[in-house]
Amino acid sequence: MSKIHRRDVLKLGAGLSGAFLVENLSGCGNQTPADPGAVGGAGGTGGGAGGLVDAGGTLDASGMIDGAADAASPGDAGATADARDASDATSETASKPDGDGSSSDDAGKDTDAKPEDAPTGTADTGPTLMTRTPASIVKARRDELDIELRVLSGRLPTDLTGHAFMIAALPWGDGTLMVNGDGIMYRLDFGGATVPLKSRHAKTPCYYADHASTGTANAFKNAGLVRFSPTLGTRNEANTAFVRMKDRLLITFDAGRPHEIDPTTLDVVTPVGAVSEWKRSIPELFLPGPLAISMSGAHPFFDENTGELFAVNYGTAIPGSVPFTDIVRWDGQGKLERWSVVLSGGATAEIKQSMHQIGVSQDYLVLMDCAFAIAPLQFLIPNAPSVAPSPDSVIYIVKRADLKAGSTTVTAKKLVIPREGAHFTLDYENPSGLITMHFGHNDGADPAEWLRIDDVRSDNGAAVRSDLLGMLVTTSDVNSMGRYTIDGEAGTLLDTTLVHDMDATWLPAIYTHRGSMTPGRFEDIYWVSLGYTAELLTKRVYDLYANYPYRKVPLASLPTTPKQGTLFRLDVVTMKIADAYRVPAGRILSSPQFVPRAGKTGTREGYLVCSMVSDDLSWPSSSGDEFWIFDAANLAQGPLCRLAHPDLDLGFTLHTTWMDAIAKRTATYRIPVRDDFAAGLATQTQEIKTLFENEVFPHFP
Ligand SMILES: [Fe+2]
Repeated sequence: MSKIHRRDVLKLGAGLSGAFLVENLSGCGNQTPADPGAVGGAGGTGGGAGGLVDAGGTLDASGMIDGAADAASPGDAGATADARDASDATSETASKPDGDGSSSDDAGKDTDAKPEDAPTGTADTGPTLMTRTPASIVKARRDELDIELRVLSGRLPTDLTGHAFMIAALPWGDGTLMVNGDGIMYRLDFGGATVPLKSRHAKTPCYYADHASTGTANAFKNAGLVRFSPTLGTRNEANTAFVRMKDRLLITFDAGRPHEIDPTTLDVVTPVGAVSEWKRSIPELFLPGPLAISMSGAHPFFDENTGELFAVNYGTAIPGSVPFTDIVRWDGQGKLERWSVVLSGGATAEIKQSMHQIGVSQDYLVLMDCAFAIAPLQFLIPNAPSVAPSPDSVIYIVKRADLKAGSTTVTAKKLVIPREGAHFTLDYENPSGLITMHFGHNDGADPAEWLRIDDVRSDNGAAVRSDLLGMLVTTSDVNSMGRYTIDGEAGTLLDTTLVHDMDATWLPAIYTHRGSMTPGRFEDIYWVSLGYTAELLTKRVYDLYANYPYRKVPLASLPTTPKQGTLFRLDVVTMKIADAYRVPAGRILSSPQFVPRAGKTGTREGYLVCSMVSDDLSWPSSSGDEFWIFDAANLAQGPLCRLAHPDLDLGFTLHTTWMDAIAKRTATYRIPVRDDFAAGLATQTQEIKTLFENEVFPHFP
């Protein structure tokens, strides 16, 4: 089977400015990562032997990408090159405004010479499964584990060392959005003959309050994206991401302050910033209680060069409150510093949807209003109408030098970037004030939407699968990977390069790269996309995107055969997908984490540790949920190793980090939790005061 790739031109040219688009945003928001779309049931091919995926490629019995019908066997150098060629697709740059597709011939040139000491051999990826979304993605055991992972197939690389961390939400199992759940951290310890795994719940103060109030009038309940108690306030489930601060480690959440953990025990040690140092994002009138909701963004940035942590704290427009957008800076020891972000006329740089990520370069901060659109009412009314995100991304550019001690505001430049999304990063270097932004778009997708009990599929009107309630809705279009050059001083967009791939870029979700901090100039960024399947596109969301302005695939032409998720390396210099691995049917791959090979320094000299979730129970010693390890220099050949344990039961895992070594926390920073809640409890009932005194404070001595 030969591959045919659609190529089009998406050169937007120079000089677009903040005036390019007018504001047409609505809603406010919270976060979720992109959608784990795997493969479809009724809309799929039915799986079976051969596991046909789509017109763009086939999977052999081992699940390796076979980019062309006559390709050599998986792992074979020829097969790898073919797969790379197959995964290359629609890329255009400023120099090729009339791109005709011919540059895809360059893809094969991107094949790297195989180093002599490259890892060899790949794992058997298991049986061919049905092309359907695994139901286990919305289920996970709550047990905290201390287990030894076993090698199921392949070999554990001997130069894979250090500690890989992964975080996830534990689904409540009641159809609630699956990323609204208690955080659970996983740590894999490499370097020995076996791989110990430790998992622990993210036990924030509200975690204890939640469990202690179960069954009482103060009990928490799920309301779509939030979990709240009518009297106690809102949960900070700390389930989304890590921020590594050298030998320290934070866990984060979009709707709450970060918390610091001990990397050895995974115990929550302290919040970052006192309650009084964070502004409440929803008035107490609407969400009362001592556990205030403070929207913060799940991806603060730690600058290893300066020792500064940058975060945000914002509130969207809600009746009875004034919207605010603040930058928060922390030195890891003292009080938080804070600046309100305003535009040149003094108006607030208002966030209309939500902020999930902050970008930091040497001289600039970039805040982005991202595509998690949630009607404010959804915080309060579980079945409030859905709201389509803005199709454009509003960003605010702030000069770091303008964050001056003693001032309370900082002025930002506003810029609109066509197409929406949530995850982006910046080159750390910004020569001559030019910012390079790398953006995984979620065109036509709202990662804050999930399968609800009254939802029907968009393709056939059938009820959505009852065993997938809570699952994220998939995209309504193929998605774009973007690289942008921005004049940081003028706040203008100078150059745009977009690439999309009709196989690989359906819902790019989570990325990784070498280093815990961004490099001076990115060369490679690894992404995992979650694919497309009609069984995860609800009529509710389909209708929201009926008039999506940047559509590449007409709604009527969306694939009828599922698109598998793909692990791929984006060469951000050439803006080509240089290497890719198609996830076998019936499986969801997520949470890639780059782990450098011991003693190596290259951006591809490492491994990608990923989670893999399936419903397959046929492989001895596997629960169906596993960790797969890839050679970062050769994804196409498939995983080198599969790790598993019968007790491992993963849900949808989110973000990750890696530490070369871990040690007992020695930092002295600590918010006294009893003092922290004193003001909030002062007006509460004795019952609530007693609950905190007996069930929360003893855990934070
Ligand atoms: Fe994220």
